[in-house]
Amino acid sequence: MADKSLNEIRDTFLNYFKKNDHKIVESSNLVPNNDPTLMFANSGMVQFKNVFTGLEKRDYARATTSQKCVRAGGKHNDLENVGYTPRHHTFFEMLGNFSFGDYFKEEAITYAWNLITKEFGIDKNRLYVTVYHDDEKAFNYWKKIAGFSDDRIIKIATSDNFWSMGDTGPCGPCSEIFYDHGDHLEGGLPGTKNEDGNRFIEIWNLVFMQYEQISKVKRINLPKPSVDTGMGLERVVALLQGTHDNYETDHFKKLIQSASDTLNIKVNEANQSSFRVIADHLRASSFLLAEGVLPSNEGRGYVLRRIMRRGMRHSHLLGSKKPIFYDIFKTLLEEMSYNYPELERAQSLIKETLKTEEEKFLVLLDRGIKILNEELEKVKKVLPGEVAFKLYDTYGFPLDLTQDILKNKSLTIDGNKFDFLMKESKELAKKNWKGSGDSSVDQIWFDIKNRLGATDFLGYATDKAQGVITLILKKNKEAQNLQETDEGIIITNQTPFYGESGGQVADTGTISNENFEFEVSDVQKKLGDLFVHYGKVKKGSIELNDSVELKIDIERRNNIRAYHSATHLLHESLRRVLGKHVTQKGSLVESDRLRFDFSHMKPISEEEITKIEFYVNLIIEKKSEVKTRIMTPKKAVENGALALFGEKYGDEVRVLSMGDEDGQFFSTELCGGTHVLNTSDIGKFKIISQSSIAAGVRRVEALRDRQLEDFLKDKENQSNLSSQKNETTLKDLISKIIQLGGKPNLKNKDQAVLIKELNKQYNQLSVGSILSDKAKNKINDQIINGIKVRFQNISDLPFKDLRRLIDEGKKEIGEGLIIIYAINDNKVGLAVGVTKTLISKFDAVKIVRAGSEVIGGKGGGGRADFAQAGGTLPNKIQESFENIKKLIS
Ligand code: ALA
Repeated sequence: MADKSLNEIRDTFLNYFKKNDHKIVESSNLVPNNDPTLMFANSGMVQFKNVFTGLEKRDYARATTSQKCVRAGGKHNDLENVGYTPRHHTFFEMLGNFSFGDYFKEEAITYAWNLITKEFGIDKNRLYVTVYHDDEKAFNYWKKIAGFSDDRIIKIATSDNFWSMGDTGPCGPCSEIFYDHGDHLEGGLPGTKNEDGNRFIEIWNLVFMQYEQISKVKRINLPKPSVDTGMGLERVVALLQGTHDNYETDHFKKLIQSASDTLNIKVNEANQSSFRVIADHLRASSFLLAEGVLPSNEGRGYVLRRIMRRGMRHSHLLGSKKPIFYDIFKTLLEEMSYNYPELERAQSLIKETLKTEEEKFLVLLDRGIKILNEELEKVKKVLPGEVAFKLYDTYGFPLDLTQDILKNKSLTIDGNKFDFLMKESKELAKKNWKGSGDSSVDQIWFDIKNRLGATDFLGYATDKAQGVITLILKKNKEAQNLQETDEGIIITNQTPFYGESGGQVADTGTISNENFEFEVSDVQKKLGDLFVHYGKVKKGSIELNDSVELKIDIERRNNIRAYHSATHLLHESLRRVLGKHVTQKGSLVESDRLRFDFSHMKPISEEEITKIEFYVNLIIEKKSEVKTRIMTPKKAVENGALALFGEKYGDEVRVLSMGDEDGQFFSTELCGGTHVLNTSDIGKFKIISQSSIAAGVRRVEALRDRQLEDFLKDKENQSNLSSQKNETTLKDLISKIIQLGGKPNLKNKDQAVLIKELNKQYNQLSVGSILSDKAKNKINDQIINGIKVRFQNISDLPFKDLRRLIDEGKKEIGEGLIIIYAINDNKVGLAVGVTKTLISKFDAVKIVRAGSEVIGGKGGGGRADFAQAGGTLPNKIQESFENIKKLIS
């Protein structure tokens, strides 16, 4: 095996288990979609967590994977050790085989033993194993299968041999296999004082999953004993290539050589840590970027930034003055795209982001290091927290980067002071982080889904259907019936209602029979395919097991589907005009507009917009049939489908293609949404706004057909009106100033008055035109908890005008609450008004605080009937409004 590469060894592992009836399952994403508590996948079993506990069923009972893992940030954090040890990584691959209630200890040990001694050909005399101290069965199997004498099977009583995923979740005793790299290295057997040395290295962990930890004190048996194993690919490759050092393997040597070539610097003992850091961090950064994680100052994005900047600091340390990561990426691509095609698909996004981040950081780094060096002359042992904070705050040095710089200088940082200074911004980051995980999956849905099974979705082909009510929820509890005016949840065995997903909003409509009518206001999909209808009983009463008719609002759906198809054409047009780095970052498909967020670093020019619209309208005018095909995800990607990173696809996917040109399609995407049958159903298309919502992410909004015509007519009327008024008032003022004679002069009292008036008129006119622009001023009146609530969202409005708008809003709605968000220059102004009649119930100050904490604001102030605050996170407005809604209801 000594001449086998990392890719070949991975294949040997997977194919061995395939031969033994295991299904090769693709690695799940690094960003887990089934666990809100986990920052990144950190072992192979994460994607199977619910399969072990029986909450999720798959159509196979044996699986094998090579799982992408990141251990940086969060609970498992290896970042600070990377570069200085032979085995630490931020990104690594974990090989594993899994049995879901199929085979158990004996087979798991047999498979492992045969693989390592026969397929890998590892010398049996160099192997040792550990078992959990009371696991006699595992002990005896090892004796029988490997023929080990008792002294080669070490009993361990600590948690080292009892594996659990976290505080809760599947767990069980485990057995680890160790390899003796030889007595030229320091280190002792497991369980001895010296066990952490480099001589005896764990290569494989076999976990006998038997229990589920429910809480700190409660542990239950799993439905069936199972197996989860984990073998670090990098360390087994090292072993098979005859070294104990992961960085001495073919794969890492190539990456390090590539860095050395790019920098034109030879690797030596003194600089090797830096090369190792670069190789490791390039891998982690590229894989995270491939999934669409972008460097930012919060949550996962910040962990990525920390990894990138730590890597970039080491290239700077090696003397580099220009970006190198994007260049070495080509070697990573050659090495890894074989097994991870996402690197290929996202390569322009990865390269562009690496380059931009490194360019930006190199400038800061130069200045920051200079400041740090000046400070270091003054300090003996402890670097003041203020300096570390300044480096963090002004020069973008994550704390671990500063620590890394001090590592060889025997200096520490005054962490308390740093923490104190960081507290505020950390709290903010924590709050933001809450929103960036996936929403927690309620236990109740697992239970319901187990009983009812998936809902049959009929909405691709039909807009009404018969069904049977299989479940009613009232106030989140199961109920037998719902009465007139009750709000509740209905589940049926089948439905034509589209459940909100993939950016497309849910259908609305009615569920009814001769005894009742239930108005459906929202539909959500739980656990992938359990459709849950939310709404209110308008008439009569509903019983469980009733036969009903489900009918969606067709006109609304037709608009939604046209906007969804338009979104696909827009996506492809953006890629053709702006470049292949354009990737979808978010999408909202409604019945009266579409919004699309995508990765792109700069504003789109007028000329580009014209080109994009031209492409979209071209395909619409072609009157081309929209084709839907079902195929495997692999086949779909071969057919050129744009797959979304971060989406989880099943074994079969729907593939939507538009703009047929002799069998070649203009756009092909994997999509579960509903679409027009012919592109001509979309109607004329136009982009009406663009903005930046985060670093490197742009947003466009677009309208089509009748809504576009109305919008354009409105706009024309307004601009005619305001320009007429504008002209008369301004002409009038200017002629008065001229009559006064001389040059405009603010010291001249009469002139000053007129000039002030002139400015006021200008402002009023521009505010007026903002308010009458429907794209900039969005008003959404709703009833929450029986109270009228106006939610208003205005772009470009000076914040000083908020108060007046609240007063006007109050007059308009009579009694209720007014919540206005104004966005100006990437900042948010939030104002809340409570009409007089409601101040005994609601306090504007409290409401403003609930809203401002989400948009990154600090407090906010005012009175019970009016309060105002500011914030810095325009993209959190919806979330902030949700927080307010919670408070109100
Ligand atoms: N889940 C086990 C581990 O990560 C195999 O070690």
